Amino acid sequence: MSWFASPAEVVERLGAVGYLTDTATATTAFLAGALEKPLLVEGPAGVGKTELAKAVTAATGAELVRLQCYEGLDEARALYEWNYRKQLLRIQATQVERVDDAGHGGAVGDAWQQTHDDIFAEEFLLTRPLLSAIRREEPTVLLIDEVDKTDVEVEGLLLEVLSDFQVTIPELGTITATRRPFVVLTSNATRELSEAVKRRCLYLHLDYPDADREREIVLSQVPALEERIATQLVATIGRLRELELKKAPSIAESVDWARTLVALEIRELDDKAVDDTLGVVLKHASDHERAVRELRLRR
Ligand SMILES: Nc1ncnc2c1ncn2[C@@H]1O[C@H](COP(=O)(O)OP(=O)(O)O)[C@@H](O)[C@H]1O
Ligand SMILES: [Mg+2]
Repeated sequence: MSWFASPAEVVERLGAVGYLTDTATATTAFLAGALEKPLLVEGPAGVGKTELAKAVTAATGAELVRLQCYEGLDEARALYEWNYRKQLLRIQATQVERVDDAGHGGAVGDAWQQTHDDIFAEEFLLTRPLLSAIRREEPTVLLIDEVDKTDVEVEGLLLEVLSDFQVTIPELGTITATRRPFVVLTSNATRELSEAVKRRCLYLHLDYPDADREREIVLSQVPALEERIATQLVATIGRLRELELKKAPSIAESVDWARTLVALEIRELDDKAVDDTLGVVLKHASDHERAVRELRLRR
């Protein structure tokens, strides 16, 4: 299956599910589908990295398989693990059978091999996101979210999936994707990813959108907002992002702010309105003080 026919079609179909994007992003997403290469999306928090994967899922009618990365994520959570409890039960059950059959049993070695084959079978396998995505026969988007939060060693686990779309389980053999998933990796760039991972991916740097696009996004998500105040809001957000804040406001905060202004029926984004609602946008006391000061000075 081809995911998208052209970059223009990406813009159109993602737009139809509410994700407004530019040609550069659309082109990279198109290529990820056409070349069947994983797409690594890097950029600050809240610029639409995760949402891009969700939008591709919605636009193509695929299903999303998500691996959320975190410190301490391991093979057993990312790929697969054996269901030890069930294996143990099977071993106990076989022992009981053997006692019953006493006298008919073969050599001890045979018995062990038999048990081993029994308990390392599909029935005892617990599949985790990477393996699930590889095995699915329907269109699948595999989102490996916030890769930079894992330890570097985990990237090693990803390599086989990213380059060959396969997973090797020593006891079962190699499982190869019959239908390659559309893979999106995201990173907030809190650390450099390994060259090995980067080499296997197409790279997209996502940043805050320009004022026009952000206004479009805000208005599409909060249609009740007046256009004039949307323009003021986006301009103010832009100014806040220029300050050196602990946490710059993201698109999600612009949208929240828009909802807040509508809920409070605020018609003019003046000093008082900003003071009253800035908590929706900035989440650190020091950022708050600084912003109030700077916004006043520049008026
Ligand atoms: N291009 C876009 N079009 C529409 N909404 C967007 C877009 N980019 C971001 N958003 C909004 O911003 C929010 C945060 O985006 P998200 O993907 O969670 O950020 P992150 O980059 O941290 O993964 C989303 O829930 C979505 O509402
Ligand atoms: Mg995210």
